[in-house]
Amino acid sequence: MKILVTGGAGFIGGNFVHYLIDRHPEDEVICVDCLTYAGNMDTLADVADNARFSFHKIDITDEKAIDALFSSVKPDIVVNFAAESHVDRSIENPGAFLKTNILGVQVLMDACRKYGVGRYHQVSTDEVYGDLPLDRPDLMFTEETPLHTSSPYSASKASADLLVSAYFRTYGLPVTISRCSNNYGPYHFPEKLIPLMIINALHDKPLPVYGKGENVRDWLYVEDHCSAIDLIIRNGKPGEVYNVGGHNEKKNIDIVKTIVRKLGKSEDLITYVKDRAGHDLRYAINPEKIHRELGWLPATSFEVGIEKTIRWYLDNKAWWEKIISGEYRDYYKKMYENR
Ligand code: NAD
Ligand code: DAU
Repeated sequence: MKILVTGGAGFIGGNFVHYLIDRHPEDEVICVDCLTYAGNMDTLADVADNARFSFHKIDITDEKAIDALFSSVKPDIVVNFAAESHVDRSIENPGAFLKTNILGVQVLMDACRKYGVGRYHQVSTDEVYGDLPLDRPDLMFTEETPLHTSSPYSASKASADLLVSAYFRTYGLPVTISRCSNNYGPYHFPEKLIPLMIINALHDKPLPVYGKGENVRDWLYVEDHCSAIDLIIRNGKPGEVYNVGGHNEKKNIDIVKTIVRKLGKSEDLITYVKDRAGHDLRYAINPEKIHRELGWLPATSFEVGIEKTIRWYLDNKAWWEKIISGEYRDYYKKMYENR
């Protein structure tokens, strides 16, 4: 099969490209990415010369370029990871999020309709459900939880989900949507909590924890997200939404303390800083549907996953040193200097 993966030079898309190349020798992977600040060809270096892989530097909002690619490639399946993905950046500059995360989805789905693509898969997020209270551990997001968003990022992702469902109902486009919790693992861009804390700790720099660090996220090792999407695109039912998560809720402060301990650093590095505006309190996914209907279960526990992740950042310094020595320095200064 020909699988077109958008956003494949990013964190999860890059892991998914590796996953497909490694586990599906029968598939061809066509990667589309416009290489924003978050896109990185180094992430794809291992597969760049593989005969079953091709890369196309295209913006998913560029209707003409997308049409030309679909016309020449004729993909069987499209998996859309391409997005502006960082909540803090969406608070600074919502426009880029609305353009890529909503209009880009429309462009891709119109191309899918025109060229008779067999499946359009939208990689969505648990953030479309809003947040849960900290004092109700019994509550979790199911696929029926109403959409109720907090940030421009999550609002853009929820808008896309509504559009995807509308294309199923109105045009009969065979779509699926996955809503996953927080991922962690190799190739995670340094602006996000876990890589930021690992890299700062390695440099003995302050570890900026927003608010009191009491906010809870439900962490999943990225390869488990890849295996869930792989099952959904092959066996999932068109028109359906699947929640993806591994019942691994942790307070931010506990994540940071784990990293500090594993790197043999001092907790004195932890610095409480101004909270994120509109900061979601808690996410928790109920993944029963994907388990029941598709037999999916995560394979990597948090204890193993965080060890592997820290080891990857220690062994792949060249990957992230290049990033943090570039324009990322200006971003970091702007977001953290007077926080
Ligand atoms: P990322 O920011 O690491 O990567 C995004 C990729 O998309 C980059 O390579 C970037 O260059 C590319 N891109 C951005 N705009 C584009 C455009 N207009 N045209 C083409 N390419 C474009 O993001 P990520 O963390 O890998 O997230 C991937 C997807 O998964 C996103 O849709 C995100 O909403 C969703 N998601 C992420 C998480 C998480 O924890 N990271 C969890 C659930 C869902
Ligand atoms: O839940 C899925 C979502 O997870 C995805 O849809 C998003 O694309 C992805 O970025 C992620 O969103 P979060 O906002 O949860 O991730 P982030 O790593 O930015 O932050 C995780 C938590 O850590 C959050 O409560 C904010 C806090 N935080 C983050 C940073 C960067 C800090 O305390 N300090 C920091 O410096």
